Amino acid sequence: MQSLLNKKIVLGISGGIAAYKSAELARLLMQEGASVQVVMTQAAQQFVTPVTMQALTGNLVFTSQWDSSISNNMAHIELSRSADVILIAPASADLMAKLSLGLADDLLTTLCLARDCPLLLAPAMNKQMWEHSATQRSVERLIQDDVTLLGPASGAQACGEIGMGRMLEPIEITELIIAFFQKKSLAGKRVLITAGPTFEEIDPVRGITNRSSGKMGFAIARAAIEAGAQVHLVAGPCNLATPLEVSGKITRTNVISAKEMHAATMSSGACDVFFAVAAVADWGVAKPAKDKIKRQGKQVPKLEFIANPDILLDMAKTVKAKAGKPYPYCVGFAAESTDLAKHAAEKRKRKGIPMIIGNIGPDTFGSDLNQLLVIDESGSKKITKSEKLQLARQLIELVAKKL
Ligand code: CTP
Repeated sequence: MQSLLNKKIVLGISGGIAAYKSAELARLLMQEGASVQVVMTQAAQQFVTPVTMQALTGNLVFTSQWDSSISNNMAHIELSRSADVILIAPASADLMAKLSLGLADDLLTTLCLARDCPLLLAPAMNKQMWEHSATQRSVERLIQDDVTLLGPASGAQACGEIGMGRMLEPIEITELIIAFFQKKSLAGKRVLITAGPTFEEIDPVRGITNRSSGKMGFAIARAAIEAGAQVHLVAGPCNLATPLEVSGKITRTNVISAKEMHAATMSSGACDVFFAVAAVADWGVAKPAKDKIKRQGKQVPKLEFIANPDILLDMAKTVKAKAGKPYPYCVGFAAESTDLAKHAAEKRKRKGIPMIIGNIGPDTFGSDLNQLLVIDESGSKKITKSEKLQLARQLIELVAKKL
């Protein structure tokens, strides 16, 4: 799935060592289906050459406002009119200062001033330059002017210092650009999500768990952030990176057992939507051994189980009406080995929730693909097989309409 299909991006590159990452950024944007038109400042060409960017993007690179290859000699107008967005990465302190003052003394600054599309900047500079009051003044002005800042991040810098001012990684910028273009149907909403399996300890080295990669729950978290929500992700043990972490719109609580997941979920605070995507172990071991249980020939240990709390059921009990609609709106998931539609519909009633999503499969856990059966008060409908992120976006749209 390409999330930037038919999008035209002007990628501006200003002078900074992070410009070496712009080549990778152009590649990633193009992989997502965008067409990328590069514009470079004089200083940028000290760090990466127009030839590199031209070879990667398949488009002529513009470096001067005096370029006669554009018939009317108005590159600044031509380029900005055809763009869906102008992204400048890296954006140096000098460039940000110029843009904040409305200066236009080269092609990149001129086309930013002449633009009629959104402008996004990925700042990159030494930490002292970033913290300087002059730069912070530029930041304030740019935000007032509706310019979106992506980053910067904190960490090791090319100059050897450590601090704020590093350009975000190309993959992070790409994901933020993708998010930028998604419909903001959950703007201002809070979304709580459980994801992944839980793990119930038998002894310090053994346990029982449910099969779940966590991918669907994490995809829903990403889609919710893309739609403008603030997300709290309560994740069982799964090896997945926090989606869109650099957006500042997600908090993640890692848990191991069902009891911990229950506690983290119930204490999360008010939310507009609750997605129970986790595959929660229904039973925990009554008394996990403190030390590793030793093997004794052919003898097998006898384990006693106790019922774990039902997180979704308990959340559903907290639902109140707000403006005549259930709050929070609870969405459950059902993975069944037989009679999915029947079991899922029963589960929806038993748990007292407005919507349940049946997992049709594929059967391989951990797959990037899935197919869903959505059951609500109006009946059921299938969402055809596609990537989990694509499905998650469709689910978010469905749920947003219910709020
Ligand atoms: N769920 C939960 N807490 C539990 C068990 C399940 O929050 N202790 C949630 C799951 O996250 C999912 C829904 O309830 O959204 C259905 O989970 P599932 O395991 O399919 O259903 P159970 O209620 O456990 O019923 P059964 O195992 O008998 O199918």
